[in-house]
Amino acid sequence: MTRVLLLGGSGQLGTAIAEGWTDCEIVAPSHDELPIEQSERLAEYLTTTRPDVLVNAAAFHDVDRCEDEEETALEVNAFSVGRAARLAAQRDVLFVTISTDYVFDGMKGSPYLESDSPNPLSFYGASKLAGERLVEAAGGRAFVVRTCGVYGSSRSASRRGTFVDRILAAGESGEPVRVVADVVASPTFAGDLAVALRKLIGTAAYGLYHAAAAGPVSWYEFAREAVRQARAEFAIEPIVAEQWKARAIRPRYSALDSAKLGQLGIGMPSWREGIAAYLAPRNS
Ligand SMILES: NC(=O)c1ccc[n+]([C@@H]2O[C@H](COP(=O)([O-])OP(=O)(O)OC[C@H]3O[C@@H](n4cnc5c(N)ncnc54)[C@H](OP(=O)(O)O)[C@@H]3O)[C@@H](O)[C@H]2O)c1
Repeated sequence: MTRVLLLGGSGQLGTAIAEGWTDCEIVAPSHDELPIEQSERLAEYLTTTRPDVLVNAAAFHDVDRCEDEEETALEVNAFSVGRAARLAAQRDVLFVTISTDYVFDGMKGSPYLESDSPNPLSFYGASKLAGERLVEAAGGRAFVVRTCGVYGSSRSASRRGTFVDRILAAGESGEPVRVVADVVASPTFAGDLAVALRKLIGTAAYGLYHAAAAGPVSWYEFAREAVRQARAEFAIEPIVAEQWKARAIRPRYSALDSAKLGQLGIGMPSWREGIAAYLAPRNS
């Protein structure tokens, strides 16, 4: 049985991995038990648990806070990830880490490929890109997987519900719901990402991959479809990005093309299918 040491196990992706990788033996220390910054502690965990795979689903990804807390962003998203990759490489442990669509500036206007040049607009994006580069420099067997707009259930106390939950809660309580119509992404259900990652680690095709829901969609369209599938009835007002004030600059177009993953026979479900899978417990 594949033994996995999982960082960020209480987060959206971590929860989907912990629940979905039923053919693996998973050790998932909490953030408090094993902060990724504490490399000596991570080394001890690697020695005692002797995993086949180290999965890093932990990150500092409050995009706006990263603008003001640059040191923490760099430490958690870059330096610690690089050290974790080196520790894994020294032990010949497969390393998997997750990166982001925010490494791109959005100017391409069509789904991004792994071969497209990154140009992050935010400190979060820059810190994640630095993490990618440090993993590459560590030289071991590794997968760096960029994803986009992740939503899924989470055991983390620090998460405030998903985009879908917030839209439904606001609309059902009668609050006006406004969503940007000129920002396009590939919102990805964490369960679908976990399935793809499980298949990917079964291959030896190490490297950089995009893994996001198939089909670009604006957040407005995505929200409307979520409301439709939840059988809720309220209107959503489309707004433009300028009306949504935020500290960090975000790309206007950051859909990812997962064709490279597809070439391994690992397909990503569409964003509509992702919503259906996420809402299945509520709709059943
Ligand atoms: N969410 C998105 O829209 C999105 C988009 C693109 C890429 N990504 C990437 O996808 C990955 C998974 O994201 P997610 O949405 O599942 O995140 P999440 O729900 O916020 O979970 C993050 C997890 O990491 C833990 N964590 C945070 N800081 C840590 C640290 N310093 N040391 C150890 N653990 C720490 C958290 O624990 P506590 O909650 O206990 O602190 C939580 O378990 C991340 O790499 C993220 O950058 C996410």
